[in-house]
Amino acid sequence: MIVEEERIRVLEGEWSPLSVAREIVAEGVQEDPFYVMDVGEVVARYNQWRELMPRVEPFYAVKCNDDKLLVTTLAALGTGFDCASKAEIELVTSIGVRPERIIFANPAKMASHIKFAARVGVDTMTFDSETELMKIKQLMPHAQLVIRIRCDAASAQCPLGIKFGCDPVTEAPRLLKLAAVLGLDVIGVSFHVGSGASETGVYLRAIQYSRALFTLAASVGHSRMTLLDIGGGFPGGRDTSIREVSAVINSALETYFGGSNVRVIAEPGRYFAAAAYTLAALVHAKRELPVKDDCEAHMMYFMNDGVYGSFNCVLYDHQQVVAQPLMPTSAKPQPCSVWGPTCDGLDCVLPNTMLPPLETGAWLVFRDMGAYTLPVASPFNGFPLPRVRAVVDRRVWASIKHLWPLTESHFVVGSRMTGPQSPPARAVEAPRVFVECALK
Ligand SMILES: Cc1ncc(COP(=O)(O)O)c(C=O)c1O
Repeated sequence: MIVEEERIRVLEGEWSPLSVAREIVAEGVQEDPFYVMDVGEVVARYNQWRELMPRVEPFYAVKCNDDKLLVTTLAALGTGFDCASKAEIELVTSIGVRPERIIFANPAKMASHIKFAARVGVDTMTFDSETELMKIKQLMPHAQLVIRIRCDAASAQCPLGIKFGCDPVTEAPRLLKLAAVLGLDVIGVSFHVGSGASETGVYLRAIQYSRALFTLAASVGHSRMTLLDIGGGFPGGRDTSIREVSAVINSALETYFGGSNVRVIAEPGRYFAAAAYTLAALVHAKRELPVKDDCEAHMMYFMNDGVYGSFNCVLYDHQQVVAQPLMPTSAKPQPCSVWGPTCDGLDCVLPNTMLPPLETGAWLVFRDMGAYTLPVASPFNGFPLPRVRAVVDRRVWASIKHLWPLTESHFVVGSRMTGPQSPPARAVEAPRVFVECALK
């Protein structure tokens, strides 16, 4: 065995997700694609969020990546959760998160899911239509409602306003009045500017709209307007930062909600998930296209993860992924394309890119692959989904291990991944329950 797959490996000394992937591959038995998940990245991002936006409580959007280790880590750090369905509520409550730390942030909910939320005490939920209000009136009249308004960023990787959010000027006032007539309790306003939003000023506009609706809601009888939910849309890649957007948000909150005791939450997904996961995939075949006319030679590389697996993010999340060879090389990059393993011609990850010449058996790595990848992937054509190999730096581990609902036995402590030359790792038997809990 190359590594204790079911446990989190505690590493010390110099290491990176790439060096971890190299050690796993060096064992010579790894064939399927795998993720290296760096728990420390999640912790660093949580700390940065708290530092830059102390007033805004993050409620992690589980849909982004429901890997139980990620969810457990965020729960241990103290985030709340944005759940879209009964299954997500079940997942989050199963690890001990109290229902008060959950918002059911899907404005179009299945009746059975509302009943489930009512049963487990998840009272806070969003709406953006008259029919949803009627449904909630019937199924959960005591719900704490949050109106979702539409306010779109000028551009976003995945615009959401096309589907959800009522117009803050022409629709929201009528819905707030209707909710009051129905005797429903509206406690706040939410919005989502679009996932992967590339405009920061949109948060100012959305917070302005929200302020106006707080005032209007109070005037029509909603006397407990106490929650502002600024949604998601925050960047998640290693080369991105929330510094600029947090300045816009903090200043808008100060202007429009300064001095008030309104609770402010957000629903970041990508921000917490993307950078923590590095994907490694094996090039198992290649085919050189015949050189025609003036065209340069072009190599097609086939690897064991594609658009039906992790790279569904290329189709659904409009992600631009970047391939790099796992093993460093100084060979000159050449034109090529990178394909997934299925028999479908659509299964193309990179139609035109440049890579140094690769032999079959070479590995490619892709950074920032934690957002909107794993939960959507399917084993189409019989190709297994990548497993997650979790690692944490010893210093990070020391600072958070007391927070986790895990004991030392869930970890393998050693400076390297296991291997012929590695010093023996101090491993303790991991309870089976954790295997399911942490890495599935
Ligand atoms: C309601 C809601 N909240 C939060 C998110 C997470 O957004 P992001 O990953 O952009 O932070 C989404 C994403 O689709 C969403 O629909």
